[in-house]
Formats: sequence, structure tokens, C-alpha cells
Amino acid sequence: MSGIHESAGGLILGIESSCDETAAAVVRGGSEVLANVVASQMTLHANYGGVVPELASREHLRNIVPVVRAAMAEAGIGFEDLDAIAVTEGPGLAGALLVGITYAKALALGVGKPLVAVNHLEGHIHAVLMERTGSREQGVGSREQDAPLLALVVSGGHTHLYLAEETEGVWRYRNVGRTVDDAAGEAFDKVAKLLGLGYPGGPWMDALAVHGNPKAVRFNFAEIKRRGEKGKSESQRTRRDGESTEGDEGALSFDFSFSGIKTAVLRYVEGHGMRERVTARRAALVEMLREEPGLRAADALRLRPELFEAETLDLIASFQAAVVGNLMRQTFAAAEAFGARGIVVSGGVAANAELRRRFVEESARRGLGVAFPSVGMSTDNAAMIAGAGWSKFLAGEFAGEGLVAVPQLRLG
Ligand code: KG4
Ligand code: ZN
Repeated sequence: MSGIHESAGGLILGIESSCDETAAAVVRGGSEVLANVVASQMTLHANYGGVVPELASREHLRNIVPVVRAAMAEAGIGFEDLDAIAVTEGPGLAGALLVGITYAKALALGVGKPLVAVNHLEGHIHAVLMERTGSREQGVGSREQDAPLLALVVSGGHTHLYLAEETEGVWRYRNVGRTVDDAAGEAFDKVAKLLGLGYPGGPWMDALAVHGNPKAVRFNFAEIKRRGEKGKSESQRTRRDGESTEGDEGALSFDFSFSGIKTAVLRYVEGHGMRERVTARRAALVEMLREEPGLRAADALRLRPELFEAETLDLIASFQAAVVGNLMRQTFAAAEAFGARGIVVSGGVAANAELRRRFVEESARRGLGVAFPSVGMSTDNAAMIAGAGWSKFLAGEFAGEGLVAVPQLRLG
């Protein structure tokens, strides 16, 4: 790292408001997390089964000041101690992003500190990089050994593969794969919803899948791919089931498609007369969640085991195994094609237990390093924004007063 702009403190305040979490964090030197405060709107949006943009903006407005204050208090510092303020520029919901950006700009101006704009996706990648700085515990060697690094960012809004490389402290990314329709987390959420489970669906599916047989239902990604082709442009109609054949290494060769499997689950539910059971489960869980909004899948299963019969648990386990299998095929095929030595997996879906276990096993088999963020750093937070902001700060990449929200911001 260049260290040109390095100061004694190296304190960055990170601010994140791209979706349904208002978050602020203080990070020293790009990796030492002094405070990481997240105000989640999950229970608010759970009533609607998905994020409602207008409500999200309103909640961010309500939460931004107390969340930043809480982070500063927890870190035990004042604004004058900061070296810079890093804020998420995009991608995300326009109104939600705007709250964080407007606040960060005003604060930076008010306290006379530089402002750094961070891509949310780069933040997810740095959630892993910052945690493994100075640590070898996660099975990934030094950055030099891993280069180039392949990052799978897999969340509710994104499923992307990036080749990431650092040169003298500056990170560069190349987008080598992306979803052509739903993100993997979105598929988890939609399938959970159609099975009458709680929101967000990922953690519910994760907890219930261990009780089912992952081989019970076969989901054929190749078939789903054909169905999903309708309406796609010619350029999108490239291979996306991950079978590394014919050596086509075009930019879209490592793409993903998750809308087909969601339809396949719906057909299965209807074809197997499961609809009534879904309705009964949904009604019972809505009632339970009303009484206890923080209710988790494991509690629901313990309290009302009759709501989760074997056929549903098998379907959940099979869906999860298929999605994880597809993520793995694409990622390892890309790692091989681009000669990546290390893999990082981040974003909300990286919290999934089966995904972690299978990525670790396969990486070990192939002699690759693999790393994940700690579970709390997998989902949206501001420590990852401050972490990614640090290398930009060191490189002198500051945002001007004209910084605006970029909802469709790309990386690489
Ligand atoms: O990164 P994140 O907090 O927000 C976005 O940027 O989208 O990711 C949220 C997504 C949701 O779709 C949620 O269901 C999924 O991550 N998720 C999981 C798990 N925990 C969260 N998916 C599968 N297994 C989990 N354990
Ligand atoms: Zn995210």
C-alpha cells in the first residue's frame, strides 16, 4: 500500500443506506472495526414480504442520525478525529442511497473531512478482505499468493463474479459473471415466500434445509435455463449452467439464472397438492411472527413441527442444494478459466451454512484458498464500506461535492 495519505489515526466513518439497513461504522486502518452499528428495517418490510422503497427511505431518514451517533460513541471518538467519511454511492434504491449520501456530504462539509464514495459491491468484497488482513485463519494465504482473486458477491440484489486484483493499494475489478434475471438471495426469498415461510427467506431456508433430503427433488438447471431464455437478447443466450464445455470464455460465460428454479418449485408445490399446507403454514407463521417478530425458523420448527412436514423439508433442502451447486459450478469454472488462486464469497447468501461447507470442501479439493466474511459482515453493514473506503482514501480517490446516488452503479 502506498501510504501517501496515511495519518496516525486512519479513522474512517462508513455510512451505508442502499437497501433496508441504515448502518454506520468506524474502522481504523481499513481493518480494525471500532464500531459497527446496523439498524435493520427487516421487521417493517416483513409485513409486505419484501422491501418497500418509500418506507425504506423514510426509515433511513429516521435512523441515520442516531445510528451515526451510536457508532461514534461506541468507537469513543469525535468527528474531529476522523480522517474521512465513506458512503455508499450505489447500486441500490435511489431514495435510500440519497439519505446516506446527503447526510455524508453535509457532515463532511460541516466537519471539514474528505468524502469517499464506495460501490456497495466493492464493500461486500472488502468485508472479506478486511477481516483476513493479518489473519491466516480462514484458509486463504497472502494476497500475493491468491492473486488474481475471484469474488462471488451473492445477495438479495446481486449475483456477480469479479476478478479482483490489487496494485499498489488500488483495487481493480473485472465483472466476469452476473445473473441474467433474479439474484440468488431473491430466489431464496421468493421460494420461502411461496412456501409460506418468514421474511427474509434465506435464513429460514438455511435452517430448515438441514432437516430435509437434498436429493429428494431434482432441479435441472439446464432445462430451467431453456425456459428462462424467452425474451433474452442473443448476447444473453450464452451458456450459464456452468458446465465448462467448448472452452467458450466470453464475458457472459459464467452467468447465472435463478428465475427458472423458482418457477420449478411453484410447479412442484402445485403438482404435489401442497397448496393447502402452504396456506395453513403461512397463516400459522403470520400469527406466530405477530406475537414474536424476531421468531426464527428453528424456534418455529420446535414449537410447531407439524407445520413442516417431510415433503416440504425435502423440497427446501433440494432447492438449496441446487442453488448452491449452481453457484459452485459457475464460480469454480471461472476460477479455473481465469487462473484464480483464491476465492472470496460475500453478500447475504454467503451466510448460508451449506454454501460455506461445500465451497470449503471443493476449494480444498482443488487446492484453492477460500474466505467468507464472519456471519455479521455477510449482510449489509457499514464496516465494509469504511474498509473499502480506506484503500480509496490511501489512493487519494475522493468524491467531490457533486456526488450523487447511482442506483445502477456497476463494478468493473
Ligand atoms: O447482502 P444483503 O444483506 O442485502 C443485499 O445487498 O441484498 O443480502 C440479503 C439476502 C436476502 O436475500 C437473504 O434472504 C439472503 O441474503 N440471506 C441468506 C441467508 N442469510 C441471508 N440466504 C441464504 N442463506 C442464509 N443463511
Ligand atoms: Zn448488500
